[in-house]
Amino acid sequence: MSPSTSRGRDPATAAGATAPVLTIDGPSGSGKGTVSRMVAHALGWHYLDSGALYRAVGLAAAWEQIDLSDAEAVAACASRTVIRFDGDGEGEPKVWVNGKDATHQLRMETAGAAASAIAAHPPVRSALTDLQRSFRTDPGLVADGRDMGTVIFPEAPFKVFLTASAEERAHRRHKQLKEKGVSVNFDSLLHEISARDERDASRAVAPLKPASDALFLDSTGRSIGEVVQHVLALVPESMRRP
Ligand code: DC
Repeated sequence: MSPSTSRGRDPATAAGATAPVLTIDGPSGSGKGTVSRMVAHALGWHYLDSGALYRAVGLAAAWEQIDLSDAEAVAACASRTVIRFDGDGEGEPKVWVNGKDATHQLRMETAGAAASAIAAHPPVRSALTDLQRSFRTDPGLVADGRDMGTVIFPEAPFKVFLTASAEERAHRRHKQLKEKGVSVNFDSLLHEISARDERDASRAVAPLKPASDALFLDSTGRSIGEVVQHVLALVPESMRRP
């Protein structure tokens, strides 16, 4: 992702509002973050990690001691929270929330659970809609999340729904957290992931589900490289980085 501030561009008038979009939706641990970043890098396109926005708002709300079940208060918090991504397109970008480096905290499972809880509030989703669309700038955008292909960019020409078995996703998350020096119990991780999937898929607004025109990809037993190649093949050569 190119360095980008969260507020500023007007999505309706942004110069890149016609830029091509590739959406990658799926449950947590499906590999969509890594795949999306690698695909964006290969294409030379921008990258939007929409889950990081929900995580950042959950964190900012917790810092302000807002009751996460209070939809309007969390939505107001979402509107004033300043989120900044800082990266060169390779590796995970740093995420700054209201001027604080929150990169590490945002990856914690507690931040994921808080994000999932606040993401079920329609006013919170509305508060983040324009911000997400403002990332659509030339030469193109790879957007990862739960509703990128269904709600935020329904007209995107390229859509993928990436999934993997819950066990494989829990194993991947376990390995990721271990590499970051965070020790978690595998069974509780599997339980948390399954509970989060259930909440994300059953909520009334923008639930986790494949867009009808999305390519369904199961990454169970496949390497990241294989999945990346599969996704890249969707985009015609003429639209890729020279
Ligand atoms: O992709 P992630 O694990 O970082 O997302 C964290 C939570 O945020 C996820 O459990 C549900 C919510 N989310 C969402 O509702 N819509 C999105 N587009 C992205 C994330």
